[in-house]
Amino acid sequence: MPPSNLGISYEQSVLDRVFTLELARVAEAAAVASARWRGRGNEKAADQAAVDAMRRGLNALHIRGRVVIGEGERDEAPMLYIGEEVGRGDGPEVDIALDPLEGTTLCAKNMPNSLAVIAIAQRGMLLNAPDVYMQKIAVGPGYPKGILDLDVAPDEMVYRLADVKGVDPSEFTVCILDRERHQGIIEAVRSTGAAIQLLTDGDVAGVIATTDPSQTNVDLYIGTGGAPEGVLASAALRCTGGQMLGRLILDNVEKVERANRMGIEDPFKVFTHEEMAKGDVLFAAAGVTDGAMLSGVRFTKQFIQTETLVMRSSTGTVREIRARHQDFAKFS
Ligand code: FBP
Repeated sequence: MPPSNLGISYEQSVLDRVFTLELARVAEAAAVASARWRGRGNEKAADQAAVDAMRRGLNALHIRGRVVIGEGERDEAPMLYIGEEVGRGDGPEVDIALDPLEGTTLCAKNMPNSLAVIAIAQRGMLLNAPDVYMQKIAVGPGYPKGILDLDVAPDEMVYRLADVKGVDPSEFTVCILDRERHQGIIEAVRSTGAAIQLLTDGDVAGVIATTDPSQTNVDLYIGTGGAPEGVLASAALRCTGGQMLGRLILDNVEKVERANRMGIEDPFKVFTHEEMAKGDVLFAAAGVTDGAMLSGVRFTKQFIQTETLVMRSSTGTVREIRARHQDFAKFS
Protein backbone atom coordinates (compact mmCIF):
# COMPACT_ATOMS: atom_id res chain seq x y z
CA MET A 1 0.00 0.00 0.00
CA PRO A 2 1.55 3.39 -0.96
CA PRO A 3 2.61 5.42 2.08
CA SER A 4 1.01 8.76 2.80
CA ASN A 5 3.39 11.64 3.53
CA LEU A 6 0.60 13.69 5.09
CA GLY A 7 0.43 12.06 8.49
CA ILE A 8 -2.92 10.58 7.55
CA SER A 9 -3.74 7.04 6.48
CA TYR A 10 -3.66 5.98 2.86
CA GLU A 11 -7.42 5.36 2.99
CA GLN A 12 -8.02 8.87 4.30
CA SER A 13 -5.73 10.39 1.71
CA VAL A 14 -7.53 8.54 -1.12
CA LEU A 15 -10.79 9.75 0.32
CA ASP A 16 -9.56 13.33 0.23
CA ARG A 17 -8.40 12.92 -3.34
CA VAL A 18 -11.78 11.63 -4.42
CA PHE A 19 -13.62 14.31 -2.48
CA THR A 20 -11.62 17.03 -4.19
CA LEU A 21 -13.40 16.18 -7.42
CA GLU A 22 -16.73 15.58 -5.71
CA LEU A 23 -16.53 19.02 -4.17
CA ALA A 24 -15.80 20.56 -7.57
CA ARG A 25 -18.93 18.86 -8.93
CA VAL A 26 -21.06 20.27 -6.11
CA ALA A 27 -19.73 23.80 -6.73
CA GLU A 28 -20.18 23.43 -10.49
CA ALA A 29 -23.81 22.39 -10.08
CA ALA A 30 -24.59 25.43 -7.91
CA ALA A 31 -22.74 27.75 -10.31
CA VAL A 32 -24.62 26.49 -13.37
CA ALA A 33 -28.00 26.69 -11.63
CA SER A 34 -27.50 30.27 -10.48
CA ALA A 35 -25.84 31.35 -13.74
CA ARG A 36 -29.17 30.74 -15.50
CA TRP A 37 -30.43 33.69 -13.39
CA ARG A 38 -27.53 36.02 -14.23
CA GLY A 39 -28.62 39.52 -15.04
CA ARG A 40 -32.30 38.79 -14.36
CA GLY A 41 -32.49 41.11 -11.37
CA ASN A 42 -33.89 38.32 -9.19
CA GLU A 43 -31.52 37.67 -6.29
CA LYS A 44 -33.88 35.32 -4.51
CA ALA A 45 -34.41 33.04 -7.48
CA ALA A 46 -30.67 32.95 -8.26
CA ASP A 47 -29.85 32.06 -4.67
CA GLN A 48 -32.60 29.44 -4.43
CA ALA A 49 -31.40 27.76 -7.63
CA ALA A 50 -27.86 27.57 -6.24
CA VAL A 51 -29.09 26.24 -2.88
CA ASP A 52 -31.21 23.53 -4.48
CA ALA A 53 -28.39 22.39 -6.75
CA MET A 54 -25.77 22.39 -4.01
CA ARG A 55 -28.04 20.50 -1.63
CA ARG A 56 -28.80 17.87 -4.31
CA GLY A 57 -25.08 17.50 -4.99
CA LEU A 58 -24.21 17.14 -1.32
CA ASN A 59 -26.96 14.61 -0.68
CA ALA A 60 -25.49 12.39 -3.39
CA LEU A 61 -22.15 12.14 -1.55
CA HIS A 62 -21.11 9.29 0.71
CA ILE A 63 -20.65 11.48 3.75
CA ARG A 64 -22.22 12.11 7.10
CA GLY A 65 -22.15 15.85 6.66
CA ARG A 66 -23.29 18.64 8.93
CA VAL A 67 -23.71 22.22 7.74
CA VAL A 68 -21.90 24.59 10.13
CA ILE A 69 -21.80 27.66 7.88
CA GLY A 70 -24.94 27.76 5.78
CA GLU A 71 -27.90 29.75 4.61
CA GLY A 72 -28.86 30.83 8.11
CA GLU A 73 -30.40 29.55 11.32
CA ARG A 74 -32.95 26.74 11.03
CA ASP A 75 -35.97 29.02 11.53
CA GLU A 76 -34.93 31.41 8.75
CA ALA A 77 -33.53 29.03 6.11
CA PRO A 78 -35.49 25.99 4.98
CA MET A 79 -32.50 24.44 3.24
CA LEU A 80 -28.82 24.14 4.03
CA TYR A 81 -29.48 25.73 7.40
CA ILE A 82 -26.89 25.59 10.15
CA GLY A 83 -27.04 22.12 11.68
CA GLU A 84 -28.70 20.42 8.69
CA GLU A 85 -27.43 16.90 8.09
CA VAL A 86 -26.46 16.29 4.47
CA GLY A 87 -25.03 13.39 2.50
CA ARG A 88 -26.08 9.79 2.17
CA GLY A 89 -25.42 9.10 5.81
CA ASP A 90 -22.47 6.79 5.26
CA GLY A 91 -18.77 7.59 4.94
CA PRO A 92 -16.75 10.10 6.96
CA GLU A 93 -18.24 12.58 9.41
CA VAL A 94 -17.52 16.03 8.06
CA ASP A 95 -18.44 19.64 8.72
CA ILE A 96 -19.37 21.82 5.79
CA ALA A 97 -19.20 25.57 5.22
CA LEU A 98 -21.01 26.77 2.15
CA ASP A 99 -22.31 29.76 0.29
CA PRO A 100 -24.12 28.41 -2.77
CA LEU A 101 -24.18 31.89 -4.27
CA GLU A 102 -21.64 34.31 -2.83
CA GLY A 103 -22.52 37.71 -4.28
CA THR A 104 -26.23 37.28 -5.02
CA THR A 105 -26.51 40.92 -6.11
CA LEU A 106 -23.51 40.49 -8.41
CA CYS A 107 -25.24 37.56 -10.07
CA ALA A 108 -28.59 39.33 -10.34
CA LYS A 109 -26.85 42.32 -11.96
CA ASN A 110 -24.45 40.15 -13.98
CA MET A 111 -21.42 41.84 -12.42
CA PRO A 112 -18.00 40.22 -11.84
CA ASN A 113 -16.98 37.84 -9.06
CA SER A 114 -20.05 35.93 -7.94
CA LEU A 115 -19.07 32.42 -6.93
CA ALA A 116 -20.48 29.12 -5.69
CA VAL A 117 -18.33 28.30 -2.66
CA ILE A 118 -17.97 25.26 -0.38
CA ALA A 119 -15.43 23.93 2.13
CA ILE A 120 -15.32 20.58 3.92
CA ALA A 121 -13.29 19.60 6.97
CA GLN A 122 -13.29 16.86 9.56
CA ARG A 123 -15.95 17.14 12.24
CA GLY A 124 -15.37 20.03 14.61
CA MET A 125 -12.69 21.74 12.53
CA LEU A 126 -14.60 24.75 11.16
CA LEU A 127 -15.54 27.72 13.32
CA ASN A 128 -19.27 27.78 13.96
CA ALA A 129 -19.67 31.48 13.35
CA PRO A 130 -23.00 33.27 13.76
CA ASP A 131 -24.30 35.26 10.82
CA VAL A 132 -22.97 38.61 12.02
CA TYR A 133 -20.34 40.98 10.67
CA MET A 134 -16.64 40.27 11.04
CA GLN A 135 -13.69 42.63 10.85
CA LYS A 136 -11.17 41.07 8.47
CA ILE A 137 -7.67 41.59 7.24
CA ALA A 138 -5.88 39.22 4.85
CA VAL A 139 -2.70 38.92 2.81
CA GLY A 140 -1.35 36.25 0.52
CA PRO A 141 1.76 34.09 0.96
CA GLY A 142 5.25 35.56 1.42
CA TYR A 143 4.80 37.69 4.55
CA PRO A 144 6.17 36.78 8.00
CA LYS A 145 3.69 34.97 10.18
CA GLY A 146 1.90 37.31 12.57
CA ILE A 147 2.44 40.49 10.53
CA LEU A 148 -1.28 41.28 10.45
CA ASP A 149 -2.93 43.17 13.26
CA LEU A 150 -6.55 44.31 13.35
CA ASP A 151 -5.70 47.01 15.87
CA VAL A 152 -2.95 48.69 13.85
CA ALA A 153 -4.15 51.62 11.72
CA PRO A 154 -4.71 50.66 8.04
CA ASP A 155 -2.13 53.20 6.78
CA GLU A 156 0.52 51.79 9.14
CA MET A 157 -0.39 48.26 7.97
CA VAL A 158 0.12 49.30 4.35
CA TYR A 159 3.55 50.81 5.13
CA ARG A 160 4.63 47.62 6.95
CA LEU A 161 3.43 45.24 4.25
CA ALA A 162 4.76 47.30 1.32
CA ASP A 163 8.11 47.41 3.11
CA VAL A 164 8.21 43.60 3.40
CA LYS A 165 7.14 43.27 -0.24
CA GLY A 166 9.97 45.64 -1.13
CA VAL A 167 7.82 48.15 -2.96
CA ASP A 168 6.74 51.73 -2.48
CA PRO A 169 3.18 51.99 -1.06
CA SER A 170 2.19 53.54 -4.40
CA GLU A 171 2.82 50.12 -5.96
CA PHE A 172 0.61 48.38 -3.41
CA THR A 173 -3.12 47.64 -3.88
CA VAL A 174 -5.72 47.19 -1.18
CA CYS A 175 -9.11 45.62 -1.77
CA ILE A 176 -12.02 47.03 0.26
CA LEU A 177 -15.81 46.59 0.15
CA ASP A 178 -17.35 49.86 -1.00
CA ARG A 179 -19.38 50.68 2.09
CA GLU A 180 -19.97 53.87 4.04
CA ARG A 181 -18.59 52.12 7.16
CA HIS A 182 -15.21 51.82 5.40
CA GLN A 183 -14.75 55.54 4.74
CA GLY A 184 -12.12 55.90 7.46
CA ILE A 185 -10.15 52.89 6.18
CA ILE A 186 -10.34 54.17 2.61
CA GLU A 187 -9.01 57.60 3.61
CA ALA A 188 -6.19 56.09 5.69
CA VAL A 189 -5.12 53.79 2.83
CA ARG A 190 -5.29 56.64 0.30
CA SER A 191 -3.03 58.74 2.52
CA THR A 192 -0.22 56.23 1.88
CA GLY A 193 -0.49 56.56 -1.90
CA ALA A 194 -1.61 52.94 -2.26
CA ALA A 195 -4.25 52.04 -4.84
CA ILE A 196 -7.65 50.79 -3.74
CA GLN A 197 -9.80 48.27 -5.53
CA LEU A 198 -13.36 48.83 -4.37
CA LEU A 199 -15.76 45.89 -4.44
CA THR A 200 -19.48 46.36 -4.58
CA ASP A 201 -19.90 42.86 -3.06
CA GLY A 202 -18.17 39.52 -2.63
CA ASP A 203 -15.40 39.57 -0.06
CA VAL A 204 -14.59 35.85 -0.36
CA ALA A 205 -13.28 36.67 -3.84
CA GLY A 206 -11.58 39.77 -2.36
CA VAL A 207 -9.64 37.70 0.16
CA ILE A 208 -8.75 34.98 -2.34
CA ALA A 209 -7.48 37.70 -4.68
CA THR A 210 -4.66 38.46 -2.23
CA THR A 211 -3.21 34.99 -2.75
CA ASP A 212 -2.03 35.76 -6.26
CA PRO A 213 -1.22 39.47 -6.67
CA SER A 214 0.60 38.80 -9.94
CA GLN A 215 -2.73 37.84 -11.48
CA THR A 216 -5.19 39.94 -9.50
CA ASN A 217 -3.07 42.94 -8.58
CA VAL A 218 -4.48 42.80 -5.02
CA ASP A 219 -2.03 42.73 -2.10
CA LEU A 220 -4.20 43.26 0.96
CA TYR A 221 -7.85 42.79 1.84
CA ILE A 222 -9.23 44.87 4.70
CA GLY A 223 -12.69 45.69 6.05
CA THR A 224 -15.86 44.35 7.58
CA GLY A 225 -18.03 41.73 5.88
CA GLY A 226 -20.00 38.62 6.76
CA ALA A 227 -18.57 36.23 9.35
CA PRO A 228 -19.66 33.14 7.36
CA GLU A 229 -17.70 34.50 4.39
CA GLY A 230 -14.72 34.94 6.75
CA VAL A 231 -14.72 31.25 7.61
CA LEU A 232 -14.96 30.28 3.94
CA ALA A 233 -12.12 32.63 3.01
CA SER A 234 -10.04 31.17 5.86
CA ALA A 235 -10.52 27.69 4.42
CA ALA A 236 -9.20 28.94 1.09
CA LEU A 237 -6.18 30.60 2.70
CA ARG A 238 -5.38 27.40 4.60
CA CYS A 239 -4.88 25.79 1.19
CA THR A 240 -3.08 28.56 -0.70
CA GLY A 241 -0.97 30.02 2.08
CA GLY A 242 -1.46 33.55 3.25
CA GLN A 243 -2.86 34.87 6.50
CA MET A 244 -6.09 36.29 7.76
CA LEU A 245 -7.45 37.63 11.03
CA GLY A 246 -11.12 38.00 11.89
CA ARG A 247 -13.01 39.47 14.84
CA LEU A 248 -16.77 39.06 15.17
CA ILE A 249 -18.76 42.23 15.67
CA LEU A 250 -21.05 41.31 18.54
CA ASP A 251 -22.54 44.68 19.30
CA ASN A 252 -25.55 43.65 21.36
CA VAL A 253 -26.43 41.09 24.01
CA GLU A 254 -28.46 38.96 21.61
CA LYS A 255 -25.44 38.52 19.29
CA VAL A 256 -23.09 37.78 22.19
CA GLU A 257 -25.50 35.11 23.45
CA ARG A 258 -25.85 33.65 19.96
CA ALA A 259 -22.06 33.42 19.69
CA ASN A 260 -21.92 31.85 23.17
CA ARG A 261 -24.40 29.20 22.11
CA MET A 262 -22.15 28.41 19.16
CA GLY A 263 -19.21 27.89 21.50
CA ILE A 264 -17.56 31.32 21.24
CA GLU A 265 -16.94 32.52 24.76
CA ASP A 266 -14.73 35.58 24.25
CA PRO A 267 -16.73 38.12 22.19
CA PHE A 268 -13.59 40.11 21.39
CA LYS A 269 -11.45 37.19 20.28
CA VAL A 270 -9.31 37.70 17.21
CA PHE A 271 -9.36 34.48 15.21
CA THR A 272 -6.54 33.52 12.88
CA HIS A 273 -7.46 31.74 9.65
CA GLU A 274 -5.92 28.63 11.21
CA GLU A 275 -8.41 28.85 14.07
CA MET A 276 -11.35 29.43 11.76
CA ALA A 277 -10.51 26.43 9.55
CA LYS A 278 -8.45 23.72 11.24
CA GLY A 279 -7.16 20.30 10.20
CA ASP A 280 -7.48 18.98 6.67
CA VAL A 281 -9.65 21.30 4.64
CA LEU A 282 -10.94 20.99 1.11
CA PHE A 283 -12.20 24.13 -0.62
CA ALA A 284 -13.90 24.70 -3.96
CA ALA A 285 -15.17 27.84 -5.69
CA ALA A 286 -16.84 27.86 -9.11
CA GLY A 287 -17.29 31.05 -11.11
CA VAL A 288 -20.89 32.14 -11.70
CA THR A 289 -20.07 35.46 -13.36
CA ASP A 290 -16.64 36.30 -14.81
CA GLY A 291 -14.02 37.33 -12.28
CA ALA A 292 -10.32 38.07 -11.93
CA MET A 293 -9.48 34.44 -11.23
CA LEU A 294 -12.35 32.42 -12.62
CA SER A 295 -14.54 32.81 -15.66
CA GLY A 296 -18.25 32.44 -15.19
CA VAL A 297 -20.41 29.70 -16.63
CA ARG A 298 -20.70 29.59 -20.45
CA PHE A 299 -23.77 28.08 -22.07
CA THR A 300 -23.38 26.84 -25.64
CA LYS A 301 -25.48 24.50 -27.77
CA GLN A 302 -22.95 21.72 -27.40
CA PHE A 303 -21.81 22.06 -23.79
CA ILE A 304 -21.90 24.04 -20.56
CA GLN A 305 -18.47 25.25 -19.49
CA THR A 306 -17.50 25.86 -15.87
CA GLU A 307 -14.34 27.04 -14.16
CA THR A 308 -13.62 25.88 -10.64
CA LEU A 309 -10.78 26.27 -8.17
CA VAL A 310 -10.31 23.24 -5.93
CA MET A 311 -7.76 23.13 -3.17
CA ARG A 312 -6.56 20.86 -0.36
CA SER A 313 -4.84 22.18 2.73
CA SER A 314 -2.94 18.96 3.39
CA THR A 315 -0.96 19.25 0.15
CA GLY A 316 -1.48 22.89 -0.82
CA THR A 317 -2.43 21.75 -4.30
CA VAL A 318 -4.58 24.28 -6.15
CA ARG A 319 -6.36 22.97 -9.22
CA GLU A 320 -8.13 25.10 -11.76
CA ILE A 321 -10.63 22.90 -13.53
CA ARG A 322 -12.21 24.05 -16.74
CA ALA A 323 -14.93 21.54 -17.46
CA ARG A 324 -17.15 21.10 -20.50
CA HIS A 325 -20.32 19.30 -19.56
CA GLN A 326 -22.30 17.67 -22.35
CA ASP A 327 -24.76 15.95 -20.08
CA PHE A 328 -27.25 18.84 -19.87
CA ALA A 329 -29.72 16.64 -18.03
CA LYS A 330 -27.61 16.57 -14.90
CA PHE A 331 -27.98 20.34 -14.58
CA SER A 332 -31.69 20.50 -15.23
P1 FBP B 1 -24.48 37.79 -0.25
O1 FBP B 1 -24.03 36.90 -1.34
O2 FBP B 1 -25.07 37.04 0.89
O3 FBP B 1 -25.34 38.87 -0.78
O4 FBP B 1 -23.16 38.47 0.37
C1 FBP B 1 -22.42 39.37 -0.38
C2 FBP B 1 -21.46 40.14 0.50
O5 FBP B 1 -20.88 41.18 -0.26
C3 FBP B 1 -20.36 39.30 1.14
O6 FBP B 1 -19.34 38.95 0.27
C4 FBP B 1 -19.91 40.20 2.25
O7 FBP B 1 -19.23 39.50 3.26
C5 FBP B 1 -21.21 40.79 2.72
O8 FBP B 1 -22.12 40.70 1.63
C6 FBP B 1 -21.11 42.22 3.16
O9 FBP B 1 -22.31 42.59 3.78
P2 FBP B 1 -23.05 43.97 3.50
O10 FBP B 1 -23.59 43.94 2.09
O11 FBP B 1 -24.14 44.01 4.51
O12 FBP B 1 -22.05 45.06 3.68
